[in-house]
Amino acid sequence: MKVGVIGCGTMGSGIAQVASTANCEVVLYDLNEGALEKSKVALAKVMARLVEKGRQTDDGAKAIQERITYSTTLDALKGADFVIEAIVENLEIKHKLFQSLEALVSKDCIIASNTSSLSITSLAACLQQPERFIGVHFFNPAPLMKLVEIIPAVQTSAEVLEKTKNTIDAWKKVTVTVKDTPGFIVNKVARPFYSEAIKMVEEGTADVATIDWAMRELGGFRMGPFELMDFIGHDVNYIVTETVFKAFYYDGRYKPSFTQKRLSEAGYLGRKSGRGFYNYADGATNPEPIKDQVLGEYIVNRIVAMLINEAADTLHVNIACAKDIDLAMQNGVNYPKGLLAWADEKGLPCCVSVMDELFDEYHEERYRCSPILRKLGKNNSTFF
Ligand SMILES: NC(=O)c1ccc[n+]([C@@H]2O[C@H](COP(=O)([O-])OP(=O)(O)OC[C@H]3O[C@@H](n4cnc5c(N)ncnc54)[C@H](O)[C@@H]3O)[C@@H](O)[C@H]2O)c1
Repeated sequence: MKVGVIGCGTMGSGIAQVASTANCEVVLYDLNEGALEKSKVALAKVMARLVEKGRQTDDGAKAIQERITYSTTLDALKGADFVIEAIVENLEIKHKLFQSLEALVSKDCIIASNTSSLSITSLAACLQQPERFIGVHFFNPAPLMKLVEIIPAVQTSAEVLEKTKNTIDAWKKVTVTVKDTPGFIVNKVARPFYSEAIKMVEEGTADVATIDWAMRELGGFRMGPFELMDFIGHDVNYIVTETVFKAFYYDGRYKPSFTQKRLSEAGYLGRKSGRGFYNYADGATNPEPIKDQVLGEYIVNRIVAMLINEAADTLHVNIACAKDIDLAMQNGVNYPKGLLAWADEKGLPCCVSVMDELFDEYHEERYRCSPILRKLGKNNSTFF
């Protein structure tokens, strides 16, 4: 299979590596020659490390590099069976590119976008054959993160969906199918992980170190919300929240926080700028958690109930099936359990009570319990 990847930045380079590792011939196209050179050098380094660790043979690493050709002309994508775009997040620029691409490739070629925030349907709409268009959303770093969200546009044909899913499955990824809605599964369902944690800090319920400790040690998450936001970068994390909030017609459930906006405005972007919720300067002192079991359990219960409620509502409006929602959160953001399976384990009536207690206390939209959670809870039923 000949695969075209457009844009050799963070995502395109990783996707090219994934496709080549799965024995596809890959053409990596980018406008910027320097970026292509950088991508090639970075791949050589990654391969050398894999060989050093014994995870790849010398010949295997060489073959992966040789299967990728680098080009600054779009013409190199002629003859591709499957093209994935990973360029700048701009609708007009992407439209222009897709129109030039469609004029070049065969009518059977599937055209896909790795966009995180644009509607797949609005991207497909610029094509002569919109039924060949689909979203394939990889996670960063693409070679390491198992999940790929597959998002058919309103126009996508069933055949294109099936072929795309089979292709990405053959690349040894975990695929889930998602309706074309803002944030898809992961970037929507994960919002309360950040926003509820920030809200608790704003209100003085606990400090950042205590919340991180509770979510790691008692909740089983790999990173606490503040460590993770510092790692992602507050500029990026804030924009995702704001985009989802606006795209859901200002639903209060996704309301961004001023605390994070101010950090971003101050240039305290997290690890990459040396300061975020924590200070990463050499010798800096950071707060120690208060390891209070009762407080810790309150924190975990509250954030996990909010995540479960969001996952349930994602199911309620048929954005994805229960199995795919759980797979997405475990493989896209490494949650310790699938949220709906976690709800079954906790008991649905217990999840409903946490939401109702929060709603009674705050009377805010963000705490409205999903109808499906309430309905199943009433019948003492489960998601699985
Ligand atoms: N970075 C992430 O964590 C992440 C995760 C999932 C999805 N995405 C999505 O993937 C896409 C790419 O993101 P990224 O972080 O890899 O970007 P990036 O800035 O690292 O790389 C973009 C590359 O595209 C090239 N480019 C720009 N316009 C072009 C054009 N018209 N034709 C050819 N090449 C062009 C640039 O030279 C650059 O090398 C975006 O749509 C983004 O929303 C990003």
